[in-house]
Amino acid sequence: MLRSLRVVVVVVVLGALLDAGDLSRGPELREFSGAFRETVAASGVVRAFTLRAAPAEVRLLDGRPLKVWAYDGQVPGPELRVRLGDRVRVTFTNDLPEPTTIHWHGVRVPNAMDGVPGVTQPPIQPGETFVYEFTPKDAGTFWFHPHLRSSEQIERGLFGVLVVEDAAPPAWSRDVVWVLDDWLLTPGGEIFPEFNTRHDLAHDGRWGNVVTVNGHVGEQLVVRPGERLRLRLLNVANGRVFAPDLSALDATVIAVDGTYTARPLPPAGFDLAPGNRLDLDVTIPASASGRRLRIVDRFTPQLIPLGEIVVADEPPVETPRFASPAAAHVPAWREGAATPVAAEFRLNARAGGPFGIEWTINDAAFRHDHASHEPMPIAARLPRGEWSHLRFTNESYRLHPMHIHGLFFKVLARNGQPVDEPYFRDTVLLRSHDTVDVGTVPLDAGTWMVHCHILEHAESGMMTLIDVR
Ligand code: C2O
Ligand code: CU
Repeated sequence: MLRSLRVVVVVVVLGALLDAGDLSRGPELREFSGAFRETVAASGVVRAFTLRAAPAEVRLLDGRPLKVWAYDGQVPGPELRVRLGDRVRVTFTNDLPEPTTIHWHGVRVPNAMDGVPGVTQPPIQPGETFVYEFTPKDAGTFWFHPHLRSSEQIERGLFGVLVVEDAAPPAWSRDVVWVLDDWLLTPGGEIFPEFNTRHDLAHDGRWGNVVTVNGHVGEQLVVRPGERLRLRLLNVANGRVFAPDLSALDATVIAVDGTYTARPLPPAGFDLAPGNRLDLDVTIPASASGRRLRIVDRFTPQLIPLGEIVVADEPPVETPRFASPAAAHVPAWREGAATPVAAEFRLNARAGGPFGIEWTINDAAFRHDHASHEPMPIAARLPRGEWSHLRFTNESYRLHPMHIHGLFFKVLARNGQPVDEPYFRDTVLLRSHDTVDVGTVPLDAGTWMVHCHILEHAESGMMTLIDVR
């Protein structure tokens, strides 16, 4: 009693000393001011799309027919491209043999549009239609995918890109998306039909034996010398991490996980874990005509060719001139790692659950079969519009790309060492026994998922919820 009284007195006195308003809310919040919009000015444009998920047969990989599940009969699904301020309306029909939903990865949508079954909406049953509608508040590279049985549904081909262009985009000579993926095929060339195997669960999820860009082995992009393009990389694989070697390109990184970096960054040393995006500002030198600029993956010891930019043997075009758009306001948050931890997420595995191994957050495995009358477990409550310091602790030997819905965060420290990434993320990769501290100021109220983006880990329990109020 006495003790708690003393705490109250100290808090009151401190509050008075620091004065009212911003100061008492900490330097982190002040530094954050201006980093993200609370709302976006509407353009008045409504972009209406229809989307249908169904089994399909498409020519993929090296051109053979492959039985997949697809949005509008294509893999990747259709690229939805809008401008900042546009309203997005997607009338979605499920013609799959099982329920599904669509989640808009990285987009700050109203909570009810987040596509998490049993949390933000009931599953969309076969034959049903659901309308997703929202106005993205951030320009950048986002993607959409099912959030139900996603280790199977995404692996079978259900994913697509949502590009939100700036209200007035720079004059790139072209703007291209490369969707990185891998496929686990049987010797007969079909999608390996067993999902969530013990092997995948005990390791870093399902890694395929064929790597593709936009569904093709050996993707080629033909450009003219002198072009300046925006190349958007996205990893939709269930488990594979890519470390693209971009040294053949005259390029800078301008956006990570959607939003712009504080300044253009050298493209070396970036990993693309499942869910991550990396946007590049690439200039094709006038002198490069006839050359092939190859991009290989170096995450594994065996180098994997991803794709190449083929520079046509033609006279150069004039290079578009404009300042790099990578000029976001990103707070330094140098003292952020020293603030109290609002919530910790301990990551581990144990025997049990429907697959024999289950992955846990704080010793709990998320139940996907949650009956709607039971309250959902909430791992943390974060105040909307306030600073929160979160910690991920990997108590296992495996990789965990941890993703949070509905907000962006900045990495503050890795294994206790302060880091200053000049950008926000929505997914951060933890290696064996890593501890990663992140800071965030959530701006959107709702019940949001926190989960591993290795889909087999998520499917076997590595998911939880936070409440932002
Ligand atoms: Cu792309 Cu809940 O994830
Ligand atoms: Cu994981």
